[in-house]
Amino acid sequence: MKTYSPLETHIRKLIAGSGPMPVSRYMDLCLTHPEFGYYVTRDPLGRQGDFITAPEVSQMFGELIGLWAASVWNAMGMPAKVQLIELGPGRGTMMADALRALRILPAFRQAIEVHLVEVSPSLRAVQRETLGDTTVQWHDSFDDIPPGPAIILANEYFDVLPIHQAVKTDTGWHERLVDVDDDIFVFTAAREPMPRFEVLLPPQVRAAPKGAIFEWRPAIEIMSLAQRVRDHGGAVLIIDYGHIRSDAGDTFQAVAKHSFTNPLKSPGTSDITAHVDFQALARAAESIGAKVHGPVEQGVFLNRLGIDTRAQALIKHSNAQTAGDVAAALKRLVGSGHKGMGALFKVLGVSHPAIGELAGLSDHAAAGMAAL
Ligand SMILES: C[S@@+](CC[C@H](N)C(=O)[O-])C[C@H]1O[C@@H](n2cnc3c(N)ncnc32)[C@H](O)[C@@H]1O
Repeated sequence: MKTYSPLETHIRKLIAGSGPMPVSRYMDLCLTHPEFGYYVTRDPLGRQGDFITAPEVSQMFGELIGLWAASVWNAMGMPAKVQLIELGPGRGTMMADALRALRILPAFRQAIEVHLVEVSPSLRAVQRETLGDTTVQWHDSFDDIPPGPAIILANEYFDVLPIHQAVKTDTGWHERLVDVDDDIFVFTAAREPMPRFEVLLPPQVRAAPKGAIFEWRPAIEIMSLAQRVRDHGGAVLIIDYGHIRSDAGDTFQAVAKHSFTNPLKSPGTSDITAHVDFQALARAAESIGAKVHGPVEQGVFLNRLGIDTRAQALIKHSNAQTAGDVAAALKRLVGSGHKGMGALFKVLGVSHPAIGELAGLSDHAAAGMAAL
């Protein structure tokens, strides 16, 4: 008899008991099941792991994000206390690099209270190690953080939040589900179409052909971030792979050992994600009265923040091998060629309405950074 992993057994039991489950439920179980979820059981980041993120590519990324946060603090009128919050901080590398860069701005450094939102006990342990003596408060969810002015950072966080999918058929849009067929997990569609779903869709998606897939995430997370900065001051920075304009398309994907794999195979052993719909995020944030900045491509954002100058400074003080590594990292972060993150990744800012511009997100190349 075939044996399954504990998570696969659990999902099979749920489907046997209640029928096929929405893609969002499957994704949630795979990533954050409290015992067997992918993020709960391992540290998947880095060259030895399953994937690599911008902060792990180079220290320059976190350093520039730290200086970006300082420019936001300036624009906020330099409050005596500000929360620096990171959602899904991975190995804690971005926060550590940001805080190190901020040693040159002691007044801001002193105002900062660090909060990390992390579901994974194993990654919390890595973050503790990376951040050494820094005083840090961990939370299971953003809503657990006490209110106050905040600068909120989210790099590759929204892509892991579960998506729903709907598929267009002759009878309308049906929610996409995961079922078991002939012993393997397969996609299927809910029997009944979702009533009035079409009127909620962006106009360009309504005209999609039969068979088209539309993905969405519940707006609750972006709305609570936007509400926080609207009511208490500050800004949110969202960096992720995704599209600037909402559109139809299936981006549900899994990555293990730096290669794409089948998201319906071996649940809990690969990073399951979907592209981020930046237009949907912007719309949700604006709908509750926060100000939206961008989105712009990551390459544009980092160039505006001065990554080239930082790279040249590092290269000047390095041996040939390290200089080559810095040049390669720069290319990866801002370039759009093979493995380049510069165009695939987008950057969106959301702020209190009184903040005029956010560095890197407006046409004025270094808006906000010049004041530092
Ligand atoms: C793709 S990793 C990105 C890590 C880091 N930001 C970086 O750029 O290296 C996703 C992070 O989000 C965390 N995470 C996943 N789902 C979460 C959730 N529902 N709430 C909070 N954190 C979550 C993971 O444990 C991990 O730290």
